[in-house]
Amino acid sequence: MPDLTAAEVRALVDAVPHWHHVMRFPHGVVSPGAYDPRELFSHLDLPPDLRGKRVLDVGTRDGFFAFECERRGAEVVAVDYADMELTGFGAARRIYGSQVEYVQANVYDLDPDRLGAFDVVLFLGVLYHLRHPLLALDRLRPLCRSLLVVESLVCDARFFTGFETSEPLTLLAPRLADLPVAQFLPVGRFHSDATNKWVPNVAALRALLADALFAPGPAHTWGDRALVHARPVDDPVTRRWVTMDRGLQKRGS
Ligand SMILES: C[S@@+](CC[C@H](N)C(=O)[O-])C[C@H]1O[C@@H](n2cnc3c(N)ncnc32)[C@H](O)[C@@H]1O
Repeated sequence: MPDLTAAEVRALVDAVPHWHHVMRFPHGVVSPGAYDPRELFSHLDLPPDLRGKRVLDVGTRDGFFAFECERRGAEVVAVDYADMELTGFGAARRIYGSQVEYVQANVYDLDPDRLGAFDVVLFLGVLYHLRHPLLALDRLRPLCRSLLVVESLVCDARFFTGFETSEPLTLLAPRLADLPVAQFLPVGRFHSDATNKWVPNVAALRALLADALFAPGPAHTWGDRALVHARPVDDPVTRRWVTMDRGLQKRGS
């Protein structure tokens, strides 16, 4: 950890335009984030020793999860489509004296030839922001050697019925609870945050993972959020559809 004074740490933290993560720094300095990610980190259930492992944190924002994995010994690459200067990542990396690499990239453009493969891929709080969630999971599949952890907003407990009004999906349509469905949020119709797009129910989240060649474990849910651990698998029937969707259909295929 670099030898920064309290005033230097405070100045680095204050210079960040917006903090998403509450992060704890030396000299008792705490970032004014929108939420404290410590509880979510505990649900990731990662081994305390990640030495020798490669971790990819997609949608890293201020990097809380990336820095925690580095602290456990992992080699970490953090990806976000945001310019690092818009987030607290650069300030936190400087304060921690971290080696985590920040790659500004869109999840749709992630390339295993450039980044290599990872033992653990974290995909937390990103899926429901995407216009193409299944494409994103397809992009993550070749990067993932062993474990994908996905966390998302889900619509089971909060299905939007009007602007910022909602009802549990089971009240609206009890028979849909275990069927894979997702709510689409057109810009400005149901929600003030135009970055929220597709909100799956838990069954759809697990089904999306299976369609992208991951074996999903059981979901851990709380409020309107769900977390799923998934393992990469190879199934020729599913792979055939993944491949055909991106290519051309030939005679006899
Ligand atoms: C709600 S924040 C989640 C931050 C962190 N992973 C967490 O769980 O606390 C979503 C992050 O995903 C990033 N993001 C959204 N769409 C993206 C995309 N298409 N490619 C890469 N990053 C994206 C945003 O910039 C933002 O930092």
